[in-house]
Amino acid sequence: MASEKITRSAWSGKWAFILAAAASAVGLGNLWRFPYLAAKYGGGMFLIVYIILVVTFGFALMMAETALGRKTGQSAIGAFSAFGKKYMIIGILASAVPFIITPYYALIGGWVTKYMAAYLVQPATEIADGAFFGGFILQNAESYVWMLLFIACVVLIVALGVKNGIERVNKVLMPALIVMAIGISIFALTLPGALDGLAYYLIPDVSKFSVELVVAAMGQMFFSLSLAMGIMITYGSYFSKKEDLEHSVRRIELFDTGIAILAGLMIIPAAVAVQGSGEAVATTAGPGLMFGVLPQVFTGFGFAANAVGFLFFALVFFAALTSCISLFETLVSIVDDATHKGRKFSITVCAVFVVIVGIIVNLGYNELLSVDLMYSLFGIGEYQDSQILDFFDFLSNTIMMPIVALLTCIFIGWIVKPQTIIAEVKQSSKFSGEKLFVVMIKYIAPVLVVVILVAYVMNTAHIISL
Ligand code: ALA
Repeated sequence: MASEKITRSAWSGKWAFILAAAASAVGLGNLWRFPYLAAKYGGGMFLIVYIILVVTFGFALMMAETALGRKTGQSAIGAFSAFGKKYMIIGILASAVPFIITPYYALIGGWVTKYMAAYLVQPATEIADGAFFGGFILQNAESYVWMLLFIACVVLIVALGVKNGIERVNKVLMPALIVMAIGISIFALTLPGALDGLAYYLIPDVSKFSVELVVAAMGQMFFSLSLAMGIMITYGSYFSKKEDLEHSVRRIELFDTGIAILAGLMIIPAAVAVQGSGEAVATTAGPGLMFGVLPQVFTGFGFAANAVGFLFFALVFFAALTSCISLFETLVSIVDDATHKGRKFSITVCAVFVVIVGIIVNLGYNELLSVDLMYSLFGIGEYQDSQILDFFDFLSNTIMMPIVALLTCIFIGWIVKPQTIIAEVKQSSKFSGEKLFVVMIKYIAPVLVVVILVAYVMNTAHIISL
Protein backbone atom coordinates (compact mmCIF):
# COMPACT_ATOMS: atom_id res chain seq x y z
CA MET A 1 0.00 0.00 0.00
CA ALA A 2 2.91 2.37 0.74
CA SER A 3 4.31 2.39 -2.78
CA GLU A 4 0.73 2.65 -4.07
CA LYS A 5 0.34 5.93 -2.20
CA ILE A 6 3.51 7.40 -3.61
CA THR A 7 2.63 6.72 -7.21
CA ARG A 8 -1.09 7.41 -6.96
CA SER A 9 -2.25 10.64 -8.57
CA ALA A 10 -3.70 13.23 -6.21
CA TRP A 11 -6.32 15.93 -6.75
CA SER A 12 -4.89 19.43 -6.64
CA GLY A 13 -7.25 20.69 -3.94
CA LYS A 14 -10.66 20.42 -2.37
CA TRP A 15 -12.52 22.19 -5.16
CA ALA A 16 -10.80 20.09 -7.78
CA PHE A 17 -12.08 17.03 -5.94
CA ILE A 18 -15.58 18.44 -5.50
CA LEU A 19 -15.75 19.41 -9.16
CA ALA A 20 -14.44 16.07 -10.33
CA ALA A 21 -16.70 14.06 -8.05
CA ALA A 22 -19.68 16.26 -8.91
CA ALA A 23 -18.90 15.85 -12.59
CA SER A 24 -18.84 12.10 -12.03
CA ALA A 25 -22.14 12.26 -10.20
CA VAL A 26 -23.90 14.63 -12.61
CA GLY A 27 -24.54 12.75 -15.81
CA LEU A 28 -27.09 10.66 -17.63
CA GLY A 29 -28.33 9.61 -14.21
CA ASN A 30 -29.60 13.12 -13.57
CA LEU A 31 -30.50 14.21 -17.07
CA TRP A 32 -31.79 11.06 -18.72
CA ARG A 33 -32.65 8.56 -15.97
CA PHE A 34 -34.04 10.73 -13.14
CA PRO A 35 -36.72 12.50 -15.25
CA TYR A 36 -38.14 9.31 -16.72
CA LEU A 37 -38.26 7.58 -13.36
CA ALA A 38 -39.84 10.61 -11.66
CA ALA A 39 -42.35 10.82 -14.51
CA LYS A 40 -43.10 7.11 -14.30
CA TYR A 41 -43.47 6.94 -10.52
CA GLY A 42 -45.91 9.74 -9.93
CA GLY A 43 -43.75 12.87 -9.98
CA GLY A 44 -43.84 14.58 -6.58
CA MET A 45 -43.98 11.38 -4.55
CA PHE A 46 -40.88 10.05 -6.25
CA LEU A 47 -39.12 13.39 -5.82
CA ILE A 48 -39.70 13.53 -2.08
CA VAL A 49 -38.69 9.91 -1.46
CA TYR A 50 -35.60 10.50 -3.55
CA ILE A 51 -34.54 13.64 -1.64
CA ILE A 52 -35.05 11.93 1.74
CA LEU A 53 -32.89 9.01 0.58
CA VAL A 54 -30.13 11.30 -0.68
CA VAL A 55 -29.74 13.32 2.54
CA THR A 56 -29.82 10.27 4.81
CA PHE A 57 -28.71 7.03 3.18
CA GLY A 58 -26.80 8.73 0.36
CA PHE A 59 -24.95 10.98 2.78
CA ALA A 60 -23.89 8.09 5.02
CA LEU A 61 -22.79 5.89 2.14
CA MET A 62 -20.87 8.63 0.37
CA MET A 63 -19.05 9.52 3.60
CA ALA A 64 -18.21 5.84 4.10
CA GLU A 65 -16.98 5.31 0.55
CA THR A 66 -14.86 8.46 0.20
CA ALA A 67 -13.32 8.03 3.66
CA LEU A 68 -12.60 4.36 2.95
CA GLY A 69 -10.85 5.33 -0.28
CA ARG A 70 -8.85 8.09 1.37
CA LYS A 71 -7.88 5.92 4.32
CA THR A 72 -6.61 3.01 2.23
CA GLY A 73 -5.43 4.91 -0.84
CA GLN A 74 -6.94 2.11 -2.94
CA SER A 75 -9.82 1.54 -5.31
CA ALA A 76 -12.69 -0.75 -4.26
CA ILE A 77 -11.04 -4.18 -4.23
CA GLY A 78 -7.88 -3.03 -2.46
CA ALA A 79 -9.84 -0.81 -0.07
CA PHE A 80 -11.94 -3.66 1.32
CA SER A 81 -9.16 -6.25 1.33
CA ALA A 82 -6.91 -3.81 3.22
CA PHE A 83 -8.96 -4.96 6.26
CA GLY A 84 -8.63 -8.67 5.49
CA LYS A 85 -8.59 -10.82 2.36
CA LYS A 86 -12.07 -12.18 3.06
CA TYR A 87 -13.64 -8.74 2.62
CA MET A 88 -12.29 -8.49 -0.90
CA ILE A 89 -15.57 -9.95 -2.17
CA ILE A 90 -17.41 -6.68 -1.37
CA GLY A 91 -14.87 -4.80 -3.46
CA ILE A 92 -15.22 -7.33 -6.27
CA LEU A 93 -19.02 -6.99 -6.28
CA ALA A 94 -18.78 -3.18 -6.18
CA SER A 95 -16.30 -3.29 -9.06
CA ALA A 96 -18.57 -5.50 -11.11
CA VAL A 97 -21.20 -2.72 -11.14
CA PRO A 98 -19.31 -0.20 -13.34
CA PHE A 99 -18.43 -3.09 -15.65
CA ILE A 100 -22.17 -3.61 -16.18
CA ILE A 101 -23.08 0.08 -16.37
CA THR A 102 -20.30 1.55 -18.55
CA PRO A 103 -21.21 -0.25 -21.80
CA TYR A 104 -24.88 0.76 -21.74
CA TYR A 105 -23.94 4.20 -20.49
CA ALA A 106 -21.70 4.57 -23.54
CA LEU A 107 -24.56 3.48 -25.79
CA ILE A 108 -26.84 6.23 -24.44
CA GLY A 109 -23.84 8.57 -24.70
CA GLY A 110 -23.78 7.65 -28.38
CA TRP A 111 -27.48 8.48 -28.77
CA VAL A 112 -26.84 11.86 -27.18
CA THR A 113 -23.87 12.48 -29.51
CA LYS A 114 -26.06 11.64 -32.48
CA TYR A 115 -28.76 14.12 -31.39
CA MET A 116 -26.18 16.84 -30.77
CA ALA A 117 -24.78 16.34 -34.26
CA ALA A 118 -28.24 16.03 -35.83
CA TYR A 119 -29.19 19.52 -34.64
CA LEU A 120 -26.23 20.87 -36.59
CA VAL A 121 -27.22 19.35 -39.90
CA GLN A 122 -30.95 18.55 -39.91
CA PRO A 123 -34.08 20.70 -39.48
CA ALA A 124 -35.39 20.55 -35.89
CA THR A 125 -38.81 19.52 -37.19
CA GLU A 126 -37.34 16.33 -38.68
CA ILE A 127 -35.68 15.44 -35.37
CA ALA A 128 -39.00 16.06 -33.58
CA ASP A 129 -40.77 13.57 -35.82
CA GLY A 130 -42.05 10.60 -33.83
CA ALA A 131 -40.27 8.14 -36.13
CA PHE A 132 -36.84 9.77 -35.81
CA PHE A 133 -35.73 8.14 -32.55
CA GLY A 134 -37.00 4.67 -33.43
CA GLY A 135 -35.51 4.89 -36.89
CA PHE A 136 -32.15 5.72 -35.42
CA ILE A 137 -31.87 3.11 -32.67
CA LEU A 138 -33.41 0.34 -34.74
CA GLN A 139 -31.16 1.09 -37.69
CA ASN A 140 -28.03 -1.02 -37.51
CA ALA A 141 -24.88 0.77 -38.55
CA GLU A 142 -25.39 4.33 -37.41
CA SER A 143 -26.04 3.82 -33.72
CA TYR A 144 -22.88 1.69 -33.48
CA VAL A 145 -20.78 4.42 -35.04
CA TRP A 146 -22.04 7.05 -32.56
CA MET A 147 -21.45 4.73 -29.63
CA LEU A 148 -17.89 4.03 -30.79
CA LEU A 149 -17.28 7.75 -31.19
CA PHE A 150 -18.46 8.41 -27.66
CA ILE A 151 -16.25 5.60 -26.30
CA ALA A 152 -13.28 7.00 -28.22
CA CYS A 153 -13.75 10.42 -26.54
CA VAL A 154 -13.86 8.80 -23.11
CA VAL A 155 -10.80 6.61 -23.65
CA LEU A 156 -8.78 9.50 -25.03
CA ILE A 157 -9.49 11.74 -22.04
CA VAL A 158 -8.73 8.98 -19.55
CA ALA A 159 -5.51 8.17 -21.41
CA LEU A 160 -4.39 11.78 -20.80
CA GLY A 161 -4.33 11.09 -17.04
CA VAL A 162 -6.31 12.07 -13.94
CA LYS A 163 -5.32 15.70 -13.60
CA ASN A 164 -4.77 16.72 -17.18
CA GLY A 165 -7.79 14.92 -18.51
CA ILE A 166 -10.57 15.06 -15.97
CA GLU A 167 -9.82 18.26 -14.07
CA ARG A 168 -9.31 20.44 -17.10
CA VAL A 169 -12.51 19.25 -18.73
CA ASN A 170 -14.55 19.60 -15.54
CA LYS A 171 -13.60 23.15 -14.69
CA VAL A 172 -15.10 24.48 -17.89
CA LEU A 173 -18.08 22.21 -18.27
CA MET A 174 -19.82 22.13 -14.90
CA PRO A 175 -20.70 25.85 -14.64
CA ALA A 176 -21.81 25.88 -18.28
CA LEU A 177 -24.05 22.92 -17.57
CA ILE A 178 -25.89 24.69 -14.75
CA VAL A 179 -26.48 27.89 -16.72
CA MET A 180 -27.87 25.96 -19.69
CA ALA A 181 -30.09 23.78 -17.52
CA ILE A 182 -31.67 26.80 -15.82
CA GLY A 183 -32.34 28.53 -19.16
CA ILE A 184 -34.07 25.52 -20.70
CA SER A 185 -36.11 24.88 -17.53
CA ILE A 186 -37.45 28.44 -17.58
CA PHE A 187 -38.46 28.10 -21.22
CA ALA A 188 -40.08 24.73 -20.64
CA LEU A 189 -42.25 26.21 -17.89
CA THR A 190 -43.71 28.80 -20.25
CA LEU A 191 -45.24 26.14 -22.51
CA PRO A 192 -49.06 25.88 -22.42
CA GLY A 193 -50.03 23.13 -20.01
CA ALA A 194 -46.59 23.02 -18.41
CA LEU A 195 -47.89 24.30 -15.08
CA ASP A 196 -50.04 21.18 -14.69
CA GLY A 197 -46.87 19.25 -15.31
CA LEU A 198 -45.08 21.32 -12.70
CA ALA A 199 -47.79 20.44 -10.17
CA TYR A 200 -47.50 16.76 -11.11
CA TYR A 201 -43.74 16.94 -10.64
CA LEU A 202 -43.61 18.88 -7.39
CA ILE A 203 -46.76 18.05 -5.41
CA PRO A 204 -46.58 14.59 -3.83
CA ASP A 205 -49.61 12.39 -4.32
CA VAL A 206 -49.59 9.84 -1.49
CA SER A 207 -51.66 7.38 -3.51
CA LYS A 208 -48.67 7.02 -5.85
CA PHE A 209 -46.48 5.58 -3.09
CA SER A 210 -45.41 1.99 -3.72
CA VAL A 211 -42.59 -0.36 -2.89
CA GLU A 212 -41.55 -0.25 -6.53
CA LEU A 213 -41.23 3.52 -6.24
CA VAL A 214 -38.86 3.19 -3.27
CA VAL A 215 -36.78 0.53 -5.06
CA ALA A 216 -36.55 2.79 -8.11
CA ALA A 217 -35.66 5.85 -6.01
CA MET A 218 -33.01 3.91 -4.10
CA GLY A 219 -31.40 2.50 -7.26
CA GLN A 220 -31.50 5.98 -8.80
CA MET A 221 -29.85 7.45 -5.71
CA PHE A 222 -26.93 4.99 -6.00
CA PHE A 223 -26.66 5.48 -9.76
CA SER A 224 -26.83 9.25 -9.66
CA LEU A 225 -24.45 9.79 -6.74
CA SER A 226 -22.04 7.21 -8.19
CA LEU A 227 -22.41 5.08 -5.03
CA ALA A 228 -22.17 1.30 -4.52
CA MET A 229 -20.07 1.02 -7.66
CA GLY A 230 -16.57 1.73 -6.42
CA ILE A 231 -16.37 5.20 -7.96
CA MET A 232 -16.44 7.25 -4.78
CA ILE A 233 -13.90 4.89 -3.18
CA THR A 234 -11.54 5.49 -6.09
CA TYR A 235 -12.18 9.25 -6.00
CA GLY A 236 -11.65 9.31 -2.24
CA SER A 237 -8.30 7.58 -2.75
CA TYR A 238 -7.16 10.60 -4.76
CA PHE A 239 -8.34 13.00 -2.05
CA SER A 240 -5.80 14.80 0.15
CA LYS A 241 -5.62 13.94 3.87
CA LYS A 242 -5.88 17.65 4.68
CA GLU A 243 -9.23 18.48 3.09
CA ASP A 244 -12.67 18.52 4.71
CA LEU A 245 -14.45 15.34 3.54
CA GLU A 246 -17.87 16.09 4.98
CA HIS A 247 -18.03 19.53 3.39
CA SER A 248 -17.07 18.02 0.04
CA VAL A 249 -19.66 15.26 0.30
CA ARG A 250 -22.44 17.74 1.11
CA ARG A 251 -21.47 19.96 -1.82
CA ILE A 252 -21.47 16.99 -4.21
CA GLU A 253 -24.91 15.89 -3.00
CA LEU A 254 -26.32 19.38 -3.31
CA PHE A 255 -24.90 19.76 -6.78
CA ASP A 256 -26.08 16.38 -7.98
CA THR A 257 -29.57 16.64 -6.55
CA GLY A 258 -29.92 20.23 -7.74
CA ILE A 259 -29.14 19.20 -11.30
CA ALA A 260 -31.49 16.20 -11.10
CA ILE A 261 -34.33 18.47 -9.94
CA LEU A 262 -33.50 20.92 -12.73
CA ALA A 263 -33.47 18.09 -15.26
CA GLY A 264 -36.94 17.12 -14.05
CA LEU A 265 -38.03 20.74 -14.52
CA MET A 266 -36.67 20.73 -18.07
CA ILE A 267 -38.38 17.50 -19.05
CA ILE A 268 -41.47 16.61 -16.95
CA PRO A 269 -43.61 19.77 -17.28
CA ALA A 270 -42.76 19.79 -21.00
CA ALA A 271 -43.68 16.12 -21.32
CA VAL A 272 -47.02 16.75 -19.63
CA ALA A 273 -47.59 19.75 -21.89
CA VAL A 274 -46.96 17.58 -24.97
CA GLN A 275 -48.83 14.47 -23.82
CA GLY A 276 -51.73 16.10 -21.99
CA SER A 277 -51.52 14.68 -18.45
CA GLY A 278 -49.18 13.31 -15.80
CA GLU A 279 -50.90 9.95 -16.10
CA ALA A 280 -50.26 9.82 -19.84
CA VAL A 281 -46.61 10.61 -19.27
CA ALA A 282 -46.36 8.02 -16.48
CA THR A 283 -47.59 5.19 -18.67
CA THR A 284 -45.19 5.91 -21.53
CA ALA A 285 -42.11 7.18 -19.65
CA GLY A 286 -38.99 5.11 -20.29
CA PRO A 287 -35.43 5.43 -21.58
CA GLY A 288 -36.72 7.22 -24.68
CA LEU A 289 -38.48 10.07 -22.79
CA MET A 290 -35.78 12.66 -23.24
CA PHE A 291 -35.19 11.77 -26.90
CA GLY A 292 -38.85 11.65 -27.82
CA VAL A 293 -40.35 14.59 -25.97
CA LEU A 294 -37.72 17.30 -25.90
CA PRO A 295 -37.20 17.64 -29.66
CA GLN A 296 -40.93 18.33 -29.91
CA VAL A 297 -40.54 21.03 -27.28
CA PHE A 298 -37.58 22.57 -29.08
CA THR A 299 -39.61 23.13 -32.25
CA GLY A 300 -41.49 25.75 -30.19
CA PHE A 301 -38.40 27.92 -30.45
CA GLY A 302 -39.06 28.47 -34.15
CA PHE A 303 -35.98 29.65 -36.02
CA ALA A 304 -33.85 29.12 -32.87
CA ALA A 305 -34.95 25.48 -32.50
CA ASN A 306 -31.76 24.03 -33.93
CA ALA A 307 -29.56 26.19 -31.71
CA VAL A 308 -31.54 25.28 -28.59
CA GLY A 309 -31.58 21.59 -29.49
CA PHE A 310 -27.88 21.63 -30.11
CA LEU A 311 -27.16 23.45 -26.83
CA PHE A 312 -29.32 21.06 -24.86
CA PHE A 313 -27.77 17.93 -26.26
CA ALA A 314 -24.30 19.45 -25.95
CA LEU A 315 -25.06 19.91 -22.25
CA VAL A 316 -26.18 16.32 -21.90
CA PHE A 317 -23.20 15.15 -23.94
CA PHE A 318 -20.69 16.87 -21.67
CA ALA A 319 -22.38 15.64 -18.51
CA ALA A 320 -22.49 12.10 -19.90
CA LEU A 321 -18.88 12.34 -20.98
CA THR A 322 -17.55 13.39 -17.56
CA SER A 323 -19.57 10.66 -15.84
CA CYS A 324 -18.50 8.03 -18.30
CA ILE A 325 -14.90 9.17 -17.78
CA SER A 326 -15.29 8.45 -14.08
CA LEU A 327 -16.90 5.07 -14.74
CA PHE A 328 -14.12 4.18 -17.16
CA GLU A 329 -11.43 5.57 -14.85
CA THR A 330 -12.80 3.27 -12.16
CA LEU A 331 -12.58 0.24 -14.47
CA VAL A 332 -9.01 1.17 -15.38
CA SER A 333 -7.98 1.70 -11.78
CA ILE A 334 -9.50 -1.68 -10.80
CA VAL A 335 -7.69 -3.55 -13.59
CA ASP A 336 -4.50 -1.62 -12.87
CA ASP A 337 -4.57 -2.35 -9.12
CA ALA A 338 -5.31 -6.02 -9.84
CA THR A 339 -2.73 -6.65 -12.59
CA HIS A 340 -0.01 -4.03 -11.95
CA LYS A 341 0.65 -4.07 -15.69
CA GLY A 342 0.44 -0.31 -16.06
CA ARG A 343 -2.26 2.12 -17.19
CA LYS A 344 -1.72 1.62 -20.90
CA PHE A 345 -2.48 -2.09 -20.60
CA SER A 346 -5.48 -1.48 -18.32
CA ILE A 347 -6.92 1.22 -20.57
CA THR A 348 -6.66 -1.09 -23.60
CA VAL A 349 -8.31 -4.02 -21.81
CA CYS A 350 -11.15 -1.85 -20.52
CA ALA A 351 -11.70 -0.15 -23.88
CA VAL A 352 -11.99 -3.51 -25.66
CA PHE A 353 -14.41 -4.73 -22.99
CA VAL A 354 -16.66 -1.66 -23.19
CA VAL A 355 -16.75 -1.83 -27.01
CA ILE A 356 -17.70 -5.54 -27.08
CA VAL A 357 -20.37 -5.36 -24.38
CA GLY A 358 -21.64 -2.04 -25.76
CA ILE A 359 -22.17 -3.73 -29.11
CA ILE A 360 -24.12 -6.54 -27.42
CA VAL A 361 -26.37 -4.01 -25.63
CA ASN A 362 -26.90 -2.16 -28.89
CA LEU A 363 -27.84 -5.40 -30.65
CA GLY A 364 -30.77 -5.50 -28.22
CA TYR A 365 -32.34 -2.66 -30.23
CA ASN A 366 -31.97 -4.27 -33.60
CA GLU A 367 -30.65 -7.79 -34.35
CA LEU A 368 -31.55 -9.09 -30.86
CA LEU A 369 -34.78 -7.10 -30.45
CA SER A 370 -36.70 -10.28 -29.68
CA VAL A 371 -34.48 -11.06 -26.67
CA ASP A 372 -36.28 -9.99 -23.47
CA LEU A 373 -34.14 -11.11 -20.54
CA MET A 374 -36.26 -9.26 -17.96
CA TYR A 375 -39.26 -11.31 -19.01
CA SER A 376 -37.51 -14.63 -19.67
CA LEU A 377 -35.33 -14.64 -16.53
CA PHE A 378 -37.44 -12.75 -13.99
CA GLY A 379 -40.95 -12.79 -15.41
CA ILE A 380 -41.06 -8.99 -15.24
CA GLY A 381 -43.35 -7.09 -17.62
CA GLU A 382 -44.80 -8.33 -20.88
CA TYR A 383 -42.76 -10.20 -23.47
CA GLN A 384 -40.70 -7.75 -25.59
CA ASP A 385 -41.45 -4.88 -23.22
CA SER A 386 -37.78 -4.43 -22.43
CA GLN A 387 -34.42 -4.70 -24.13
CA ILE A 388 -30.93 -5.84 -23.16
CA LEU A 389 -30.23 -2.31 -21.87
CA ASP A 390 -33.16 -2.54 -19.45
CA PHE A 391 -31.85 -5.87 -18.23
CA PHE A 392 -28.35 -4.47 -17.57
CA ASP A 393 -29.88 -1.44 -15.87
CA PHE A 394 -32.07 -3.67 -13.70
CA LEU A 395 -29.18 -5.98 -12.85
CA SER A 396 -26.96 -3.11 -11.71
CA ASN A 397 -29.43 -0.70 -10.09
CA THR A 398 -32.04 -2.98 -8.59
CA ILE A 399 -29.98 -6.03 -7.68
CA MET A 400 -26.24 -5.38 -7.46
CA MET A 401 -26.10 -1.87 -6.01
CA PRO A 402 -28.51 -2.49 -3.13
CA ILE A 403 -26.53 -5.65 -2.29
CA VAL A 404 -23.20 -3.80 -2.44
CA ALA A 405 -24.66 -0.97 -0.33
CA LEU A 406 -25.99 -3.47 2.21
CA LEU A 407 -22.63 -5.25 2.46
CA THR A 408 -20.82 -1.91 2.77
CA CYS A 409 -23.14 -0.88 5.62
CA ILE A 410 -22.58 -4.19 7.42
CA PHE A 411 -18.84 -3.96 6.84
CA ILE A 412 -18.55 -0.39 8.14
CA GLY A 413 -21.28 -0.58 10.78
CA TRP A 414 -20.52 -3.95 12.31
CA ILE A 415 -17.11 -5.26 11.19
CA VAL A 416 -14.60 -2.40 11.05
CA LYS A 417 -17.01 -0.19 13.05
CA PRO A 418 -18.12 3.36 12.19
CA GLN A 419 -15.26 4.69 14.30
CA THR A 420 -12.82 3.74 11.52
CA ILE A 421 -14.57 6.14 9.16
CA ILE A 422 -15.19 8.78 11.83
CA ALA A 423 -11.49 8.84 12.74
CA GLU A 424 -10.55 9.22 9.07
CA VAL A 425 -13.00 12.11 8.61
CA LYS A 426 -11.82 13.80 11.79
CA GLN A 427 -8.22 13.76 10.64
CA SER A 428 -8.96 16.87 8.66
CA SER A 429 -12.16 18.42 10.08
CA LYS A 430 -14.99 18.00 12.52
CA PHE A 431 -17.82 15.62 11.60
CA SER A 432 -21.14 17.35 12.28
CA GLY A 433 -23.23 14.56 10.74
CA GLU A 434 -21.54 11.92 12.86
CA LYS A 435 -24.69 10.75 14.69
CA LEU A 436 -26.73 10.56 11.50
CA PHE A 437 -23.89 8.65 9.88
CA VAL A 438 -23.71 6.04 12.65
CA VAL A 439 -27.48 5.49 12.90
CA MET A 440 -27.84 5.23 9.13
CA ILE A 441 -24.90 2.95 8.46
CA LYS A 442 -25.51 0.60 11.39
CA TYR A 443 -29.28 0.34 11.56
CA ILE A 444 -31.57 2.24 9.23
CA ALA A 445 -29.85 1.76 5.87
CA PRO A 446 -29.26 -2.00 6.11
CA VAL A 447 -32.77 -2.66 7.47
CA LEU A 448 -34.27 -0.46 4.75
CA VAL A 449 -32.41 -2.26 1.96
CA VAL A 450 -33.46 -5.70 3.24
CA VAL A 451 -37.10 -4.75 3.84
CA ILE A 452 -37.44 -2.99 0.50
CA LEU A 453 -35.76 -5.73 -1.50
CA VAL A 454 -37.74 -8.53 0.15
CA ALA A 455 -40.98 -6.59 -0.35
CA TYR A 456 -40.04 -5.93 -3.97
CA VAL A 457 -39.26 -9.56 -4.73
CA MET A 458 -42.49 -10.74 -3.05
CA ASN A 459 -44.46 -8.11 -4.92
CA THR A 460 -42.90 -9.06 -8.25
CA ALA A 461 -43.53 -12.74 -7.56
CA HIS A 462 -47.16 -11.82 -6.70
CA ILE A 463 -46.80 -13.23 -3.15
CA ILE A 464 -47.92 -9.89 -1.74
CA SER A 465 -49.49 -6.88 -3.40
CA LEU A 466 -48.09 -3.46 -2.46
N1 ALA B 1 -23.51 9.11 -11.46
C1 ALA B 1 -23.42 9.04 -12.86
C2 ALA B 1 -24.63 9.60 -13.51
O1 ALA B 1 -25.52 10.03 -12.83
C3 ALA B 1 -23.14 7.64 -13.30
O2 ALA B 1 -24.74 9.63 -14.67
